Amino acid sequence: MSAKSSIALIGPGAIGTTVAAALHEVGRTPVICGRTAHAQLTLRTDDGQVVVPGPVLTNPSEVKQPFSLVFVAVKTTQMAATAPWLSALCDENTVVCALQNGVEQKTQFAEYLPGVAVLPSVVWFPAQREPDYSVWLRAKPRLTLPETPHTAVVLAALEGTRCEVDVAADFTTIAWRKLLQNAVAGLMVLSGRRAGMFTRPDITALAYAYLRECLQVARAEGAQLSDEVPAEIVARFQNAPADLGTSILADRVAGQTLEWDIRNGVIQRYGRVHGIPTPISDVIVPLLAAGSDGPG
Ligand SMILES: NC(=O)c1ccc[n+]([C@@H]2O[C@H](COP(=O)([O-])OP(=O)(O)OC[C@H]3O[C@@H](n4cnc5c(N)ncnc54)[C@H](OP(=O)(O)O)[C@@H]3O)[C@@H](O)[C@H]2O)c1
Repeated sequence: MSAKSSIALIGPGAIGTTVAAALHEVGRTPVICGRTAHAQLTLRTDDGQVVVPGPVLTNPSEVKQPFSLVFVAVKTTQMAATAPWLSALCDENTVVCALQNGVEQKTQFAEYLPGVAVLPSVVWFPAQREPDYSVWLRAKPRLTLPETPHTAVVLAALEGTRCEVDVAADFTTIAWRKLLQNAVAGLMVLSGRRAGMFTRPDITALAYAYLRECLQVARAEGAQLSDEVPAEIVARFQNAPADLGTSILADRVAGQTLEWDIRNGVIQRYGRVHGIPTPISDVIVPLLAAGSDGPG
């Protein structure tokens, strides 16, 4: 595989399998790097299934050359363990596209990849990993990317695939809007319930209050979000299938570490920076952190 046109993907879970399958369907199958060996990846969609041939590499020493584009779809809590993959797959010519939640991807990657171009993305689609490791894609795949000199590399890779890509001139606003959606989804972890819970009037009221707090922090960070955003986000959950979960709830159910810091802690942290009181975060964040990391 030529270093000029090569694509690798780290983290073949729910989002990674979806993007790997989209690339495979158009003949651009990526080299897949994971933690657990799988002979193949399987994506289930409304119109059938896509099988991406393996192997899933599990040892970074198997990588002999850098790649031109590396998608990273591990949880942000798994970044440190992913460092050997990043070193093996990337050099100064690589573009890394982070398929991860949050608004801090560039800072997170800088620690492991100084000098490498890192493109954050907003991942809009829900995908669910099933007990047999197949992935259930629950909406049309769509990403938003920032407008940068490196965006064209990702656009070219995903052109003609089932994964739609938009480019946003004001990426900050889009990323914070998604973060607000993720932050309020954290309430599902605390109740142990899925999207249907947002039809309860008491949860609606809590969600509005929390989202108004998040909105103030987002605006202080430069996001141009209107007063209507909390209602729009809550309505989206209310109109979703009642059994629709969120990746942080799936992690909680599986007893995994949670992405509480990049989805909820971030509101409290940036609130402190800007002197914005965050009374709801001050209750929610310690509960999520303790649920994730213990002890006890
Ligand atoms: N799922 C969604 O609907 C959704 C939607 C929007 C955004 N997101 C975001 O997308 C990101 C990925 O989430 P996800 O739901 O796809 O996670 P996931 O299903 O848990 O997948 C993570 C993948 O990373 C692999 N991995 C873990 N440690 C690794 C390591 N050291 N080296 C290589 N691979 C490693 C895991 O391997 P194993 O096979 O061993 O588990 C798994 O295949 C998160 O930031 C999440 O918040 C998710």
